[in-house]
Amino acid sequence: MSLLKSNLHRLAAIVLCFAPASVIGDTRNWNPTGQGCVDPKGFLSCYDTQSSNADSCVSFCNSNNVQGTGAYTDCILGCNGAWLASNVGCWIQSCWNQVYSCEYQLTALSYFDGTDLVQNANIPFYPPPDDASAGACSCNLGYVYGNKTYINFNNACITVAGSGDLDATYECECCEFSFPVSNILNVCPKSDLSILGFQQELNDTQQLISKSTDNCAILDNNSDTCVSQFGYPFYGTITNPLNLPADEPGTEPLSNLPGNAFTDFGEPAYTLTLFPGYSSVITPAAFNADAGVATGSVEVGSAVVTATAGSSGQGGSVAATATGKNTGTAATASGKSTNTGSAASSSSTSTQKSDGLRVESKAGAVLGAVFASFALFM
Ligand SMILES: *[C@@H]1O[C@H](CO)[C@@H](O)[C@H](O)[C@H]1NC(C)=O
Ligand SMILES: *[C@@H]1O[C@H](CO)[C@@H](O)[C@H](O)[C@H]1NC(C)=O
Ligand SMILES: *[C@@H]1O[C@H](CO)[C@@H](O)[C@H](O)[C@H]1NC(C)=O
Repeated sequence: MSLLKSNLHRLAAIVLCFAPASVIGDTRNWNPTGQGCVDPKGFLSCYDTQSSNADSCVSFCNSNNVQGTGAYTDCILGCNGAWLASNVGCWIQSCWNQVYSCEYQLTALSYFDGTDLVQNANIPFYPPPDDASAGACSCNLGYVYGNKTYINFNNACITVAGSGDLDATYECECCEFSFPVSNILNVCPKSDLSILGFQQELNDTQQLISKSTDNCAILDNNSDTCVSQFGYPFYGTITNPLNLPADEPGTEPLSNLPGNAFTDFGEPAYTLTLFPGYSSVITPAAFNADAGVATGSVEVGSAVVTATAGSSGQGGSVAATATGKNTGTAATASGKSTNTGSAASSSSTSTQKSDGLRVESKAGAVLGAVFASFALFM
């Protein structure tokens, strides 16, 4: 039984965590005009620099590895990861006043998606605090992404299933599979979240709980049980995916409030160190009185799907081969990474989302994404 159950769980986790979304490991500049930034010109030239660094990085892979080998794939993944990390650096350098914006959050979550790391606290100012207002996105995308990619280690429903009570099992599964969607609707009930593939996730969730004979009434009438008895992390208003309020999910475009997250960075220099082997001492640009114009709605319509979820979990050699062009030597770079310790340890501390089954196909997808992205700059 345990084998079957754990496979089922894994399947469910894959459906929930890795359903294709619209924003995945995306190296684009989410704020393509540098609007609202303290230093728009510096911001744009920083993004240009990162894309040409990535270009050199790929050339390095091409001349030092045989295409089609694992080492080559790792090298390319490393270029992509370092590119995503260095984009975050551009914000800290030239757009730190807009770190609560939708665009910064999309930059941060693109990094986690593209490196296949479980979302962690290593990207500064992300997710924004609950009380963020000036310069803040209409939806806390960090919470949305965090719930969307949550990896569930709670086996409560396996225990219930072991008792042989099918109805109780389905009830438990209502809790187990619904909390991410419920938490997302709790935090952003009005927003159009299609940029993060929310409709698909909702559909997937509805499928997973469709066996419930009472349409998951436990979520409408008795949702405390989900938390107190089964231990699933619901927040705020609990929503039943099979009994949604008429106006959810919402349709309001994502947008930012005018203003700045803050107007004084507070430190003359900031060291940003991120897996795989990105490390940079950043001098944040001075505040400027023109900064903080609202950037308007995020262009969901223009979003292009560049890949399916995440990259492979081959963290060790990613850092070892790919950091040369971006941060000096690979050895220094991985040694300095505070994100996951050394690159090698990242794969053993289960901070990466990959399931062994998916490594190959995901690696292929990201590879495609890198080349697709490069096509934009040629
Ligand atoms: C899930 O969403 C809730 C808000 O509904 C938030 O407090 C929580 O931190 C999110 N979880 C993750 C893992 O991001
Ligand atoms: C979700 O399901 C609805 C019908 O149940 C369907 O119309 C819609 O296309 C589906 N959306 C996605 C993204 O699969
Ligand atoms: C749950 O509450 C709804 C009303 O909100 C009610 O119609 C339904 O009968 C209740 N279900 C159970 C199982 O108590």
